[in-house]
Amino acid sequence: MSNQNDPLFQPHHLGELALPNRILMSPLTRSRSSQPGDIPNDMNARYYQQRASAGLILSEATQVSPQGKGYAFTPGIHSQEQIEGWKKVTGAVHMAGGRIHMQLWHVGRISHPDLQPNGEKPVAPSAIKPEGAKTFISADSGMVDIPEPRALEIAEMTDIVEQYRQGALNAKEAGFDGVEVHAANGYLLDQFIKSGSNHRTDEYGGSVENRLRLPLMVVEAVIDVWGKDKVGVRVSPTGSFNAMDDDNPAETFGTFARHLNDLGIAYIEVVEDSFQGNHANGRPEEVIDAIRAGFKGTYIANGAYTADEARKRIDEGRCDLVTFGRPFIANPDLPERFRQNAPLNDWDDSTFYGGDEHGYTDYPTLIELEKSA
Ligand SMILES: Cc1cc2nc3c(=O)[nH]c(=O)nc-3n(C[C@H](O)[C@H](O)[C@H](O)COP(=O)(O)O)c2cc1C
Repeated sequence: MSNQNDPLFQPHHLGELALPNRILMSPLTRSRSSQPGDIPNDMNARYYQQRASAGLILSEATQVSPQGKGYAFTPGIHSQEQIEGWKKVTGAVHMAGGRIHMQLWHVGRISHPDLQPNGEKPVAPSAIKPEGAKTFISADSGMVDIPEPRALEIAEMTDIVEQYRQGALNAKEAGFDGVEVHAANGYLLDQFIKSGSNHRTDEYGGSVENRLRLPLMVVEAVIDVWGKDKVGVRVSPTGSFNAMDDDNPAETFGTFARHLNDLGIAYIEVVEDSFQGNHANGRPEEVIDAIRAGFKGTYIANGAYTADEARKRIDEGRCDLVTFGRPFIANPDLPERFRQNAPLNDWDDSTFYGGDEHGYTDYPTLIELEKSA
């Protein structure tokens, strides 16, 4: 197939951003920030720069506040040192001709007192322990159980919104092209949205509208900072990772999509399927239909995509763009590989989280492979 006809290489406008292809890099936590302080470094900048041929890079999830942190070694966007560190990353990506959004993160209950300010309990919509969910709190801790969280007081909701607002402001100072609000994978906003983790009886729980209240307040605050064209939201309607469940994902996420459409954000990124756990058997087509019916902006699909399935679903109008996770970890030049229909490097999941350059910046490109052959 010539590039001219290849759906993956049709340009796409995301607000003011002109994307040269539809092969995006998914947000990927790699747990390699500098310590102390969870500060992005030169090695992180090199990793992202190697992947700058993506239509758009979504950064790894980045905690907006100390309270928003849930794992050792993940980067933050709440201190000046972190902002300076991220400038290295955005500068390196831009120098290589790429584009990058920051994924804004508050983990809610997926944390541990050892990671929280003053050893406090992690916060959540309701005091419900995520059964079976785990985190790691230090290099030697291994995976540890997550304790029961504390339910947020109503008076604390505005503080949560302010944490995101400040994160959004800091991301702007750090030179990003936009931001993605992380409302997926069982973290704070997903905990509010889904019925399994939100048992509140006040205006932040119960009905779908109530469960969406805090996430929508957060999105509005982030739009205040960035403008609607530079904001996206990630959701995982049927994801089960981190002990998540919703009693009616089509209704819940169809409603969320409608509200996000009214707010006019640039895109929704939907985790349709995931190796981390999915209640649906494959892609949840009904939920996808409900989201697409409500949201008229750019629809970004994610989860277990191959190049050919991405081409097919773009062609069929099921999605506009596709994010690739594990394939981008192992293939810094993923768009070029797809262009040539070249074989892919395999990923090594033992080096996904934490460590050094190995399994991070040392995956070879096609050109490097040819040179060493
Ligand atoms: C090492 C690793 C780290 C991840 N970190 C994040 C993250 O920070 N934020 C997020 O929303 N999803 C995260 N995910 C999920 C991916 O973005 C993606 O949804 C998942 O890998 C499925 O896509 P794939 O089949 O193309 O890999 C992570 C996945 C992996 C493998």
